[in-house]
This record gives sequence, C-alpha cells and structure tokens, in this order.
Amino acid sequence: MFSLENKTAIVTGAGSGIGKATAQRLKRAGANVVAADIVDCAEEASRAGCAFRQVDVGEPEQIAALCDYALEEYGSLDIMVNNAAISTGRMLAEVDSEENSLRFWRVNLLSAQMGTKEAAARMKPGGSIINLTSITALRGFPQWSEYGATKGGIIALTQTAAIEYGGAGVRVNAVAPGIINTPMAMREAPDMVEKNAEIFAPLGRIGTPEELAAAIHFLASDDASYITGQILSVDGGWSAGTSLQAFGMAMQS
Ligand SMILES: NC(=O)c1ccc[n+]([C@@H]2O[C@H](COP(=O)([O-])OP(=O)(O)OC[C@H]3O[C@@H](n4cnc5c(N)ncnc54)[C@H](O)[C@@H]3O)[C@@H](O)[C@H]2O)c1
Repeated sequence: MFSLENKTAIVTGAGSGIGKATAQRLKRAGANVVAADIVDCAEEASRAGCAFRQVDVGEPEQIAALCDYALEEYGSLDIMVNNAAISTGRMLAEVDSEENSLRFWRVNLLSAQMGTKEAAARMKPGGSIINLTSITALRGFPQWSEYGATKGGIIALTQTAAIEYGGAGVRVNAVAPGIINTPMAMREAPDMVEKNAEIFAPLGRIGTPEELAAAIHFLASDDASYITGQILSVDGGWSAGTSLQAFGMAMQS
C-alpha cells in the first residue's frame, strides 16, 4: 500500500522541516528521491539515500535543469513536491520594499508555477504533483498578507493545472499545513506559536513535519489515482472552524 517502487521524486526545500521529512518518507516508500535546496544539504541527503541538487527555486531555469537531472539520472520523473518557500510576518502597512515582495513571489509562487509546468512536461500518465499552500491562503491572518497571497496563488495554480494536465494523466494537488513544528514556524517566538496551535487547532496541538509527509506520500502514490485538483488541509482541524478552546475563551471574557 502506498508503494513508490520504480518512481522518481523531486522534493524542493528538502533541507529542513516538511521537505526533509517528505524526502525521507518517499525514499523509505521505495522512490528514487532528488532532494533540492538552496542550502547545501548534500551530506544529510546522502545519509538518507537521496541524491542532492543545490537549486534556487526562484530561478525558473534552475527548476528546468533539476527536472532534467531527475529524468536523465533515473529515466522517469513521477512525483514533484513543490515545497520550498520563505516566510515573514508583517502588517501590510509595514510592507515597504517592492524588491522583498517580488522575492516572495518568485520563491513561493513562481517556483510552484514553473515546478508544476516543468515537471508535468516530463511526466508520463500516473505522474503526481503536490504543491505546498497554507492555512493563510484559506483565511486571513494578521501579518501574513505577503506570504498568504503567494499561497493563495498556489491554490488557483493547483486547481487550474489539475484541469489542464488531467488529460495527460498527471494529477496536481496541494496540501495546506496549519502550524507545523519546523524552523520556519519556530524561528521567532516559538512559545507563542505553539500556544496558538493549542488554542486554535481543534486537536489542541502543533503538527509535526512527519504528519505532512504522510499526507504528501498518500497524494504521491497510485492509491490517490482518482484525486486531483484538491487542497488537503493538514492543520489539526483549524480550517474547519472555531475550536472549543477558542470558543470557551471568548465566552469567559
Ligand atoms: N511550518 C509551518 O507551520 C507551515 C505552515 C503553512 C505552510 N507551510 C509551508 O510548508 C512548506 C515547508 O515549510 P517548512 O515549515 O518546512 O519550512 P523550513 O523553513 O523549515 O524549510 C524550507 C526549506 O526551503 C529552503 N528554501 C528556501 N528558499 C529556497 C529557494 N529559493 N530555493 C530552494 N530552497 C529554498 C530552505 O533552505 C529550507 O530548507 C513551505 O512551502 C511553507 O510555506 C509551512
């Protein structure tokens, strides 16, 4: 079940957090895995049995070269996980640099657009593309307009690509994490981040990178062969609505 034998996968942003857990999980499921990151993680990737390519996903020609590498090295490209991203929280009124905003757009959204296009062009029927969006694309969060806008774009991209590549037998889905315990989420004020998850996620806790990897693994596998164009929230139920914890706090105040 969920075997990835004889398949080749690319995971971007595989040096940390969700990407790292995903690369390791897909490898354990039998796939050839090409781990890609802007930071050199060759040694760690090799310990997990993965190949490594140092890539800036904000540069479309580097994504095309990455897909070529997987195809030439392993003879097929079957799974593409467009996971690499950057984040920062600031109010819209504090956004002061067009250059910074454009970098967000390139690394978070253009990367997924080109990653989807370049991978799909090299896939046979049965190919699966998984894009990482976010709960910040499903509802508004103060301080997350720049990041959330790129993640909202990924939802539109995923749905449209699923329609356009459906005839070629290539599936395109997205996963939408809530708060997950990774360096991205915990960089600043980890206690506050964890507390937020405890209050707002109905399951009452922060998620783990492995829980994201499990969902990505399922969508990558042939067991998900009739699922395309979907956004799978992996957020402890946060996107379902107000948690009992938050409701209780509001009632007490
Ligand atoms: N952690 C969360 O709470 C959370 C919530 C919602 C969505 N997400 C999404 O999940 C995905 C993974 O996030 P994470 O929390 O594991 O982040 P992370 O910061 O732990 O890992 C991101 C990885 O991407 C790499 N990267 C950054 N810029 C790159 C570039 N230009 N080219 C190639 N690699 C680059 C980094 O070096 C890093 O290894 C992202 O798309 C993120 O937006 C995470």
